[in-house]
Amino acid sequence: GCQSGSGDSQTLTAGTAPGFPPFEMKQDGELVGFDVELLEAVIAATEYELSGWDELEFKSLIPALNNGNVDVVAAGMTINDERDEAIDFSDPYYSSNQAIVVRENGSFSPSSLDDLSGAAVGAQKGTTGESVIKDQLIEAGTIPESQYNAYGNYVLAVEDLLNENVDVIIIDVPVANSFVADRPIESAFVHETGEQFGFGIQSGNDELAGALNTGLTTVEDDGTYRDLTEKWFGQ
Ligand code: ARG
Repeated sequence: GCQSGSGDSQTLTAGTAPGFPPFEMKQDGELVGFDVELLEAVIAATEYELSGWDELEFKSLIPALNNGNVDVVAAGMTINDERDEAIDFSDPYYSSNQAIVVRENGSFSPSSLDDLSGAAVGAQKGTTGESVIKDQLIEAGTIPESQYNAYGNYVLAVEDLLNENVDVIIIDVPVANSFVADRPIESAFVHETGEQFGFGIQSGNDELAGALNTGLTTVEDDGTYRDLTEKWFGQ
């Protein structure tokens, strides 16, 4: 939790949900990724200090902020109205849409949400990919609810796609690009959602919001942000 340290620095615990490359993932047992390095650089540019990272399921991150187990979330988390009612966000630091990912060279090559009629579809629990499935596919009657497979993380969803247990997964475009790079799966089409990722913080913590936003500006101005995007997205 957030404690007053000595002097004017405050210690923060960060929360994330690995299995979301290249934003956060485990490499040789270590938590690595764009979000990890970006948040660390942003906090280093503030009066705050980072004591460490808690790894949780994505759907547990907002509850963890609300019960004070973590002070800041860096998890490729999309800023949206529903979440804005429970927590606050920093300024946006990355943009995304949703990719519809299928097996490569398969007979199934959808080009619109309507083409997913009757397909078995997967996403990570509590994500905006899941919202596309619930709000656009199930609600519209394109697939029955029983055809939605909800996973604790996207690594498991990708495994089930490879194992032919689902036909499609719906996942953030930059993360899809990372998964398809070294697996026989491909993005069939992109569903434009115009999402923006922000760091999540407790509702009403304006001091931390201000510090994170100033820190983001600092790392954008000093080239750190560009270096990190080159390192993790190769662009
Ligand atoms: N951007 C999506 C959302 O906010 C997915 C985020 C998943 N993040 C993760 N670390 N698993 O719902």
